[in-house]
Amino acid sequence: MSGLTQDQIDQFHRDGCIVIPNELSPEAVKGLLTQSHTLLENFSLENHPLTKFTTGENVGAHVGDQYFLESADKVHFFFEEGAFKDGELIKPKHKAINKIGHLLHEADPQFRRISLTARNEAIARDLGLKDPRILQSMMICKQPEIGGEVPSHQDAVFLYTDPLSCLGFWYALEDCTATNGALEFVPGSHLTSPVYKRFVRAPCDADSEATATGAKGTTFEPVAGVTPYEEPPKSAFKLVDCPAGSLVLIHHSVLHRSNANLSEKSRYAYAFHAIDGECEYDRKNWLQIPVSGGNEFTKLQEEVAC
Ligand code: FE2
Repeated sequence: MSGLTQDQIDQFHRDGCIVIPNELSPEAVKGLLTQSHTLLENFSLENHPLTKFTTGENVGAHVGDQYFLESADKVHFFFEEGAFKDGELIKPKHKAINKIGHLLHEADPQFRRISLTARNEAIARDLGLKDPRILQSMMICKQPEIGGEVPSHQDAVFLYTDPLSCLGFWYALEDCTATNGALEFVPGSHLTSPVYKRFVRAPCDADSEATATGAKGTTFEPVAGVTPYEEPPKSAFKLVDCPAGSLVLIHHSVLHRSNANLSEKSRYAYAFHAIDGECEYDRKNWLQIPVSGGNEFTKLQEEVAC
């Protein structure tokens, strides 16, 4: 199975992000969108903690709860902050969800079929992963009018290995434009912006109740010996406007972000992350499978039918 061309590999190493048009057929895109809508229709608000999702500096406060931590090996639903007013949900639930995650690649046959492929394994190997493992996946809805801004970040902050190895696969399921919150990245920033912080589990206090994850939430901690880089201006970010079906590959250290979606059109995307199983996966990382602690991640290779 072929992976990337040498030009694509070179461009990825130079820029930190590349777009591969027409990676998914229109039928595959339609299938994932239909399945996403079905998941949104069928999930129940009953007993849901109404957890919201952000990747800003307040991320610990917003998502650092058990529902988030336990989503590592389940399919959970996270709300847009803008879906609430005075604590009340003001949008229908299918228009209120920010993302669905983080085990779609295992739990849902449709997403599994797109994720675990010989093609994706070949791409990961071409970009240096010797033992590609998929460890999280998500459907990102970027809802019309309330789709939240995603601040500048590096994926390795959230999925830290030693050495760094995380690789993002990001599939546009709808056309991504300047008006519906398309991805943006700073070309070459992976070469100049060292990862200086990590998103980790905050351990339980000695006197707090034991939880399934053994954590009371999440927090950021500094990476020893690394000086923070200066955040680039918004003008340094390059827009990734791309049609539905495109695959965007994202380097673990490249700075990327997206604007809020204030338009009337959604911007659905399916994303998953792979790491190299030969790199050390830290027990501090927020994501553990099983959630009690572990790195039992799925090999990124084509499924063999039994
Ligand atoms: Fe990201």
